[in-house]
Formats: sequence, C-alpha cells, structure tokens
Amino acid sequence: MKKILVVGSLNMDTTIEVPHMPKPGETLSGKSIRLVPGGKGANQAYAAGKLGGRVTMAGAVGDDSFGQALRENLEKVGVSTEPVEVLSGVPTGQAYITVDESGENSIIIIAGTNGEVTPAMAGQWTAFLEEADIVLLQFEIPLETVQYVKERAVELGKTVIVDPAPARTDVPEEFWKGISYIKPNETELAILTGKEAATREELCRGAKEMLEKGVENVLVTLGGDGCLLVNRDTEEFFPAEKVKAVDTTAAGDCFTAAFALGLARGWEVREAIAFGQKASAIAVTRKGAQSSVPDASEIS
Ligand code: RIB
Repeated sequence: MKKILVVGSLNMDTTIEVPHMPKPGETLSGKSIRLVPGGKGANQAYAAGKLGGRVTMAGAVGDDSFGQALRENLEKVGVSTEPVEVLSGVPTGQAYITVDESGENSIIIIAGTNGEVTPAMAGQWTAFLEEADIVLLQFEIPLETVQYVKERAVELGKTVIVDPAPARTDVPEEFWKGISYIKPNETELAILTGKEAATREELCRGAKEMLEKGVENVLVTLGGDGCLLVNRDTEEFFPAEKVKAVDTTAAGDCFTAAFALGLARGWEVREAIAFGQKASAIAVTRKGAQSSVPDASEIS
C-alpha cells in the first residue's frame, strides 16, 4: 500500500451542543461540552490511519497536555507523529465548535502552534515527503508553508490532494498548478472562485475554472447530497447515501482521508470516492471530530 503524508493542523476541539446557532447578542444554554481531538490535518491523518492506511502526520503542537493528547490519539491508530514538532511557549491549536440539533456546526479556530508551522520547519520534513506517495494538505497552517510543501511534493512527483479549507481569497494563481485533486465543498468553491456555486451548472463552471488554473481533478462535496467529480474528461455526480446526521464535524476530513486511502490502495477514482462517501456517511451519525471516524470493518 502507498504511503500517505498529511502536513497540517492539530487542534483540541471544544464541542458544545446547542439547540440552535446563537444569534448576535443572544445568550444560549448549551446542552453539553466535550473535548475531542480535531484539526483538519490531524482528522485526516487519524481517519486514514484508523481505516488501515500507512500514515505520517507532520505539524506542530505545544508542550502542553492538549499537544500530548493529540499525538497519542494519532499514535493509537498507527499514525506516525515523528514529524510533529513540540514547541514551547506557544499553546496547541484549538477549535471552539457549536453543533446544533440538525448536526450543522460552526467553528472558530485559534491557530496556536499551527500558526508556527513555517516553510523552514517543513524544510526539515524532506525525508518524510520523499518517502510518501500521497500528500494531503489543508489551509489551517500558514499558506506559505502549504505552498512550499505543495511545490516540493509536485517536484517529487507525488499525488497531491488539497482540501482548501478554511477557504481563502488570497491564494496565488500559481499555487493550483500540478495539484492532483482539490476537495472544496460548495461554499469553499464559491469563495475560491469568487462566484456563486449553488446550481449544478455553477458548480461545474467553478470546478472548470479551477482546472484552468492547473488542478487536475476537482471533487466538490455537497454535504448530504453527494459529490461532483470534474476533470478534463468527465463531469460526474455521485449521490450520497441518506443518513440522519447528528454532527457533521470532520465529515469532509473523513471523506478526504478515505478517498486518499482508496488511492493508496491502488483503487480506481470512483471506488475511492465511494469509499470516502461511505466513511463520511458513518461519521456524520456520530459526535465529534476524530471520535466520529469509523474503522474499515464498519464499511461494507
Ligand atoms: O474539519 C473539522 C475541524 O475543523 C475540527 O476538528 C476543528 O478542529 C477545525 O479544524
């Protein structure tokens, strides 16, 4: 099986269940509060590891209890955390998440050590990059570092998968060249292109704009509706299995990880998408980020 390297964020999530999202100025009683390992990078590494992949996580945590707990959680599912730097004087990244009764969430992140992942730090991870086959990136560490790793990975001929979340408007045009897959949701695609991305036509148009910029494949996830694969040869919709969502946190991370794992197993793209969809359909029925990830035996 091919090796996956995730370069990205690690957060300790504080998740609060609420009856509805608070309105500006509203004081609301939460129903529960929990600490759950999270962070888009770490969630993807954890999911790929729990599903049976050969995975390494690179990033940074503080020398605090959250940092230690996050590394231990990854190691429990066989993820190597050798290139996770432990920094003193800066706290581990955190996320504050509210989840409403429909399972929707809103997230505030405090970068902490994720903001300290510099290109110079990533330069020390060359050996890990060289031995990886698939490199997974997100936008929760500094963009210049994501750019640096992406360029090195493309130079080395790796399969590069970018989950452009949180989406941003300041991504340089050249960033997109040579990326094998991007996986925005419809909101992120709209932010990246600066155009509406709601109808099927708008989604395909937005995805094609990303192809023009140099991305090879665009996978737009559409929550409970399914996902859309757009490349130079196809525009194909994959409907999602209908499930009752209790918490959508990290469902996209679970999809990305399972998709990457499918590719690592040498599967055809459609099979990898189906695997990603099955894994994320289970994740949304469970609470929390890494706590919601299934193992391979649960996926039929
Ligand atoms: O994608 C979900 C993740 O976003 C959460 O785990 C939180 O840490 C934020 O990074």
